[in-house]
Amino acid sequence: MRKILVIHGPNLNLLGEREPNVYGLVTLEEINKELNAHAAKSGVELRIVQSNHEGEIVETIQNSRHWADVILINPAAYTHTSVAIRDALSAVSVPAIEVHLSNIHAREGFRQASHVSPVAVGQIAGFGKNSYLLALQAAVLLDLPEKKK
Ligand code: DQA
Repeated sequence: MRKILVIHGPNLNLLGEREPNVYGLVTLEEINKELNAHAAKSGVELRIVQSNHEGEIVETIQNSRHWADVILINPAAYTHTSVAIRDALSAVSVPAIEVHLSNIHAREGFRQASHVSPVAVGQIAGFGKNSYLLALQAAVLLDLPEKKK
């Protein structure tokens, strides 16, 4: 069974009350519920983590390297600042899909650059909670190399 790790970065625990004009009213709990429902239908195993701490996200990525087949990550603000998260993603040989609720390319200049994109398979941004569901579908469809035993 394909194993997918979902990482939600800082402040995403406040979805629903945080800047609803940008991120909508959906809560992280609702997103996770939908992800779990879609994962069950697609026959994949999900692990979902949220953290407001950069080092914890780095450790989660490192610790996933013998478990996860694909990582879905919304690094949130760390997208634009974190070389450490980028390095962790390139250190583990687990393909990553970058996810954003908002279209970061249509927002402030500082949000338009991502440290993560160059080491990700691809990026899905701008579809609200559906960004996650599209990313999950991409993770399910992704061609993966044979796993080492
Ligand atoms: C975000 C976009 C980031 O610029 C921002 O810092 C976030 C959320 C998104 O999902 O649209 O916290 O990653």
